[in-house]
Amino acid sequence: MSALEQLCCPLDQLPLTRHERSLTCANGHAYDIAKTGYVNLLPVQKKHSKDPGDSKEMVSARRDFLANGYYDPIINAIVTSVPETLQQLDTIRLFDAGCGEGHYLRQIIERLAASHVIDAVGLDISKWAITDASKRSKRIDWIVGSNAHVPVAKQRFDWVMCAFGFPVFSEFARILANQGWLLLVESGADHLIELRQILYPEIKPYRVTHSEGIEGFVLQHEIDHRFSFSITNADDIGRLLAMTPHIHKASYEGKQAALALQKIDLTADIKLRWYQKQGKNNVE
Ligand SMILES: C[S@@+](CC[C@H](N)C(=O)[O-])C[C@H]1O[C@@H](n2cnc3c(N)ncnc32)[C@H](O)[C@@H]1O
Repeated sequence: MSALEQLCCPLDQLPLTRHERSLTCANGHAYDIAKTGYVNLLPVQKKHSKDPGDSKEMVSARRDFLANGYYDPIINAIVTSVPETLQQLDTIRLFDAGCGEGHYLRQIIERLAASHVIDAVGLDISKWAITDASKRSKRIDWIVGSNAHVPVAKQRFDWVMCAFGFPVFSEFARILANQGWLLLVESGADHLIELRQILYPEIKPYRVTHSEGIEGFVLQHEIDHRFSFSITNADDIGRLLAMTPHIHKASYEGKQAALALQKIDLTADIKLRWYQKQGKNNVE
């Protein structure tokens, strides 16, 4: 059952204490816990739009697409690459930054639960994503919030995961314990290339992200994970399109061409990069 412990007020960073169905800080800022168990720690003052993050439609498209297992090899690659020092912990404190509707977090916990206690928190800026996530798992703490100001105390986690998200490295460094691990999951050059060839007249050249390194972190392990999969129904092709930024970026004609397909063979090309937090307090 979700505990919603060790969270901080997004307005003054003071610790939040639970009183039945709400969390309050010493300055009296109060945040209600929703019926489904999540807490919204994104006050209007910190919002840059009325309804930030993925829309209701994007969230339901991603939920239904991922539920059909197309991306399960990514979860397998994550679970089988967990660093030894994390595996040695009896309890792993895991934070999913930009967790969407929580598919990855739920699956990872399920896979690791036989050998570890997982203290898991999922955060997303989209209230639609967190509402959906909180209906589907009660053993994870779900928060509506932003990676720009993660409402948790410093050094709270052993592992921060950011999959296809919007990383804020200074915040990830702050909330990670010394020598904690950051996992970035990103698209590689050929990810969904067959779909992009249909959507766009020209494919933009691929740019490697963070090639100059990330301040405060050392890259310890990089995995290029490729696999092929086929979608053999128009509904799932539409869902894949709707859950990606291509739904906003591609032309009307490109989207219509993709939506007319009944079948498509696709390449998944994923980069998993495990970084370890460094710092002057890092001496073992
Ligand atoms: C491409 S989706 C990935 C979701 C999930 N990690 C997955 O791989 O299925 C990106 C997610 O980041 C969220 N997001 C966007 N900006 C964010 C921010 N500043 N802080 C936290 N989440 C954010 C979106 O609402 C969306 O759910």
